[in-house]
Amino acid sequence: MVPGPSAKRTSVLAFGLAALSGTLVGADRPCDIYKAGGTPCVAAHSTTRALYQEYTGPLYLLTRECDGSHLEIHPSEAGGVANVSAHDEHCKGTTCVISMIHDQSSSGNHLMQAPKGGAGLGPEALYFDSLAGASGAPVSVSGKNAYGVFIAPGTGYRSNVAKNTAKGDEPQGMYAVLDGTHYNGKCCFDYGNAETNNRNTGNGHMEAIYFGKGDGFGKGKGEGSGPWIMGDLENGLFPGRKMNKNKKNPTIDFRFVTAVVKGQPDNWAIRGGNAADGALSTYYNGQRPKKGYNPMSKEGAVILGIGGDNSNWAQGTFYEGAVTSGFPSDETDDKVQADIVTAKYQRVFVSELKIDTRNGSSVSLQITTPGFENFYLAHDGETVKMLEVTSSSDYSLKQRASWRVQQGRGEETCYSFESVDKPGHFIRHHEHWLKVDLNLNLKKDREDATFCSQPGLNGRGHTFRAWTYPARYIRHVLGRGYLASNGGPRDQDHKLSFSDDVSFILHNPGFA
Ligand SMILES: *[C@@H]1O[C@H](CO)[C@@H](O)[C@H](O)[C@H]1NC(C)=O
Ligand SMILES: *[C@@H]1O[C@H](CO)[C@@H](O)[C@H](O)[C@H]1NC(C)=O
Repeated sequence: MVPGPSAKRTSVLAFGLAALSGTLVGADRPCDIYKAGGTPCVAAHSTTRALYQEYTGPLYLLTRECDGSHLEIHPSEAGGVANVSAHDEHCKGTTCVISMIHDQSSSGNHLMQAPKGGAGLGPEALYFDSLAGASGAPVSVSGKNAYGVFIAPGTGYRSNVAKNTAKGDEPQGMYAVLDGTHYNGKCCFDYGNAETNNRNTGNGHMEAIYFGKGDGFGKGKGEGSGPWIMGDLENGLFPGRKMNKNKKNPTIDFRFVTAVVKGQPDNWAIRGGNAADGALSTYYNGQRPKKGYNPMSKEGAVILGIGGDNSNWAQGTFYEGAVTSGFPSDETDDKVQADIVTAKYQRVFVSELKIDTRNGSSVSLQITTPGFENFYLAHDGETVKMLEVTSSSDYSLKQRASWRVQQGRGEETCYSFESVDKPGHFIRHHEHWLKVDLNLNLKKDREDATFCSQPGLNGRGHTFRAWTYPARYIRHVLGRGYLASNGGPRDQDHKLSFSDDVSFILHNPGFA
């Protein structure tokens, strides 16, 4: 649905709902604000809420991996937050991915699974990037639960339709609300305007928001250790005028970050702020970089989570964002930021194990696959195995199958499992398989040892997904521990008995 002149008609109802729900129904949303500023949205994406006060159309398409069935998720009311009950009901007892993010503007720039490009990672990228696990980024917006788009390395979305977006040196604006704690130093967690052929076609052929620690390939960075908001202009992440250090571009790692990049002939700007509080600051506003960036050669495709040539090694979380036609004024950006703050993004604790993790309670994880009820998740040196353990097993075997549950080392709403007989050693994944090793205090090591709990997919116990790869789960196959997806390209991803193989009963402590 396209927002139209019928805005007045619903206002009485809207204020009625506002009083009931405590949210600001009927107020201008980001794309109403851009339109009023003379720079309308030509692409508007969000899995959490409508970006127009009148919008009731689909926000995203949810696909269930067990049977491939699709469901469009709409806002619960015009201008409102996504209907989370519909999402949760559709995915109950199975796994889901976000297969499309609808363009809420009338341009039809829907973000779909990104095709193979000039660069890419893994067997998935032989044809397409991966899709985001649908429950990887739970969040609260206006006091209601919703889900953002959790981009794990290898994940990407793209629209090469390029309708109404800026081409060549035409002016445009972009904003995005992101998780400021979810990033890496790889190329490239982007949202914005890029090449239409999935390849690097040269300097100035893209103009997108980048968030992360830089890619090490250029010298572009801000003050401190990052992450930073930069402009990905192709063949370079720019923190300002040049691909060097811009001291006025600060490290920005609020839990929720608003990022703005906008450009017009011979001028571009980077702005940012805390999406949950306060105003935007300007980190750069000045001339274009030289050598192919002035004038720009924008092509108008829209990307999310990848670089213009499909470089898909980065990670990050996207909640909402838009691309405009025309260069928005700072005043317009500021009003959009005010609406984002009013929307009240907050973190949410979705699932909690009924275990006191404060002092590291010891648990065992019992397999629920029929025929293996005496088997538990254990370690054999570095290898994670499924071993038969009973109450009469010897002490050292019981120790190898016992784990101290701790607050997630990479994300506090999730969990980490420390070996009882090898303190400091944790279960971690190496993208596709599990091992137990010394977990150092490096960001990636901590994150890869973090698993989020949800009710067991077969209705028993708990299922654990990797925080860093929300479409991959702790699974046993032929006695070994893997990080497997439901129907993915690897042997351990087969769908047969998936729900049983990823469901574990926690005993606190003990063995049957
Ligand atoms: C949300 O989705 C549920 C389940 O599909 C549906 O019953 C309900 O009517 C929806 N709520 C709204 C406000 O659309
Ligand atoms: C944790 O252990 C300490 C020291 O043994 C004890 O004083 C404290 O009460 C324990 N806390 C919990 C939550 O069990």
